[in-house]
Amino acid sequence: MLARAHGFDVRTATSPAAVLALCEAEEFDVCLLDLNYARDTTSGVEGMALIQRLRELDPTLPVVVMTAWGSIEGAVEAVHRGARDYLQKPWDNTRLIATLTAQLELHRALRTVNRLDAEAARARQAELPQIIARSRAMQQVMSLVDRIAPSSASVLITGEHGTGKEVIARALHAASARSAHAFVAVNAGGLSDGVLESELFGHVKGAFTDARADRTGCFELADGGTLFLDEIANMPHGQQARLLRVLQTGEFHPVGSSRARRVDVRVLAATNADVAREAADGRLREDLVYRLNTVEIRLPPLRERRDDIPDLAGLFLGRGHAGPTRRLSASAMEALLGHAWPGNVRELEHVIQRASLLATGDEITPSDLLLRPRGDVSPRLEDMTLEQVERYLIERSLAAQGGNVTEAARVLGLSRSALYRRLASLGIRS
Ligand SMILES: Nc1ncnc2c1ncn2[C@@H]1O[C@H](COP(=O)(O)OP(=O)(O)OP(=O)(O)O)[C@@H](O)[C@H]1O
Ligand SMILES: [Mg+2]
Repeated sequence: MLARAHGFDVRTATSPAAVLALCEAEEFDVCLLDLNYARDTTSGVEGMALIQRLRELDPTLPVVVMTAWGSIEGAVEAVHRGARDYLQKPWDNTRLIATLTAQLELHRALRTVNRLDAEAARARQAELPQIIARSRAMQQVMSLVDRIAPSSASVLITGEHGTGKEVIARALHAASARSAHAFVAVNAGGLSDGVLESELFGHVKGAFTDARADRTGCFELADGGTLFLDEIANMPHGQQARLLRVLQTGEFHPVGSSRARRVDVRVLAATNADVAREAADGRLREDLVYRLNTVEIRLPPLRERRDDIPDLAGLFLGRGHAGPTRRLSASAMEALLGHAWPGNVRELEHVIQRASLLATGDEITPSDLLLRPRGDVSPRLEDMTLEQVERYLIERSLAAQGGNVTEAARVLGLSRSALYRRLASLGIRS
């Protein structure tokens, strides 16, 4: 009656079962709970159990408990079990209404925050680019991503330029329990020692001449979430030591501060360098490598997963960065499939964008692709697979002999039919 008089919309229930039934049927802003229900009981056992059941049903529902006069242990236990506040009988009317109002407002504010959080999480998900993984090699990568995403283990992502290291880092974050928190990316290789230290750990006002105000570092920004350290192999040595310490202790000091800060951050690192060689040559601390590569994800170069090329090309065409969406002619697709892609997926993306701009009809032809003939950049033999070497030599001889297969076969030391067999299996048109 008192609450109604103060404008509350009230439902009453006279047993724990009835309370739960009401809460299952409707959403409430606050619950005012007595601890005893059955006749002649004063133990409060029923009420305590009910608090727990209510919490399971709706963890955000604020519960205010009414306890017997002088029963401070009862109040303590109720709060311990999840009640937000308590009132002692006989209650003070003003205090009762003030308590209910405060809890109700708090609850509404929390609900708004939760909703905004959920919306932001969804928006972040929408931002997550689609990942193409049709090839066997990428299927294996994605299955590894699925398995390790939920853990907080550090992951080292390796692969040539443009193979999608950042895409995979974002996918790991998005699929983890940290996805509602920040994903912070830092280029660890592009900054000088001092600048990187401030960037990672922040600084306090006056720490150095230009430090006019406190600055929050990336570790703190990523608290609860994921920190992505790109180009880890080029990280200055001093920062490698600092990074190692945070990974070991979870603590760091902002520049110029003697107070340690504690963070819960999952670290993902990426590099296109050969980590073992960098460590052997002393550019990367070995102990840091041990910490970072709890799991290693190797992204294969695009030339080793050509099955992904059609889907990737389709995806980039569909993004329609440049006006109307165009189709790829069959010969253009063939050219894409045959290209060496030294710049990997990023190169393919740029080629498609440029071709969409250049094409005049609604079809993209091979000449719109402006693919550099393979001879233009001489590939390093030690970086090539046997198949690539074979393809390279055959194509070079064919070009040198003006497409004459008999001559090319002679130069290569093959019979004409042996060369034809190789041309067919490599998909080279003579
Ligand atoms: N599997 C994939 N599916 C769809 N898009 C991809 C895929 N892999 C890469 N991309 C796209 O290719 C481009 C390059 O990817 P990303 O930036 O992740 O590569 P990277 O390995 O970090 O390159 P770098 O070493 O140069 O920093 C991005 O635009 C990305 O969206
Ligand atoms: Mg990158």
